[in-house]
Amino acid sequence: MIDIHNHILPGLDDGSKDINTTINYLQLVQASGVKKLVFTPHYMPGFYDSTREKVSAIFKQIIDLKTVHAPDVEFYHSAEVYLNGENIVNDIIKENFFINNSQYVLVENNLNGFTEDLYQLLYQMNRKGMRPILAHPERYMEIKNDPSRADDFLQRDVYLQINTGSILGGYGQQVQNAAFELIDRGWAHFLGSDCHCRSGVYDYPQAVEVIRNEFDDKIATLLSSTFPERMLKNEIIPHFYMVKKTIPKKKSFLEKVLDFFGE
Ligand SMILES: [Fe+2]
Repeated sequence: MIDIHNHILPGLDDGSKDINTTINYLQLVQASGVKKLVFTPHYMPGFYDSTREKVSAIFKQIIDLKTVHAPDVEFYHSAEVYLNGENIVNDIIKENFFINNSQYVLVENNLNGFTEDLYQLLYQMNRKGMRPILAHPERYMEIKNDPSRADDFLQRDVYLQINTGSILGGYGQQVQNAAFELIDRGWAHFLGSDCHCRSGVYDYPQAVEVIRNEFDDKIATLLSSTFPERMLKNEIIPHFYMVKKTIPKKKSFLEKVLDFFGE
């Protein structure tokens, strides 16, 4: 299992408040069976100033703790980029927010209503060869009210990352229903904990188990392992992976005879 979205690095955003909290969560991750962790502090100029330089410095301190507290977990760092404003796409390049130097970038937007420039910024990202992943689509007002709206993003070559908390009902019934519907439609690509180190619980494996029970083992593995692994290797992931094939109906003897005579 690979967690591509969390706020476990300390002191950068509204996630882990100090190094002790981070250590506690690294131990929980180690115990959970998650093997790869991509730290994604919020990047929102003016609010969360998680520049590459700042994050790298903290990441170096955390790497030193790995052997003791999370020996079986591999660490990566990137950001959850708040996609808004004319400079943000250039910031992604300047700060190298590409996950493991791939073309994939985790982005978010306003939960209470998408900003007007969102589609234009996603278009700019795609034109520059980036592969945007929208964090927790099921939590945005437009999509939780009408999950079919998520198609707007898939049609724009945007990947979708569902939160473990949404699967487990932590944001309420409507968000949980939306998350299930996205998975059911084959519109979800990744599972992320979006862990902010507040509850004392790291719920990634529980959410995988719920997906396995509600859907099947195949989809649980795709979202928690197969697709994240491909992302880390910068391999292409299909935006639509559940294309239903129409199997041609077998013709009856009479139909075959009529075909033969050109009827
Ligand atoms: Fe987040």
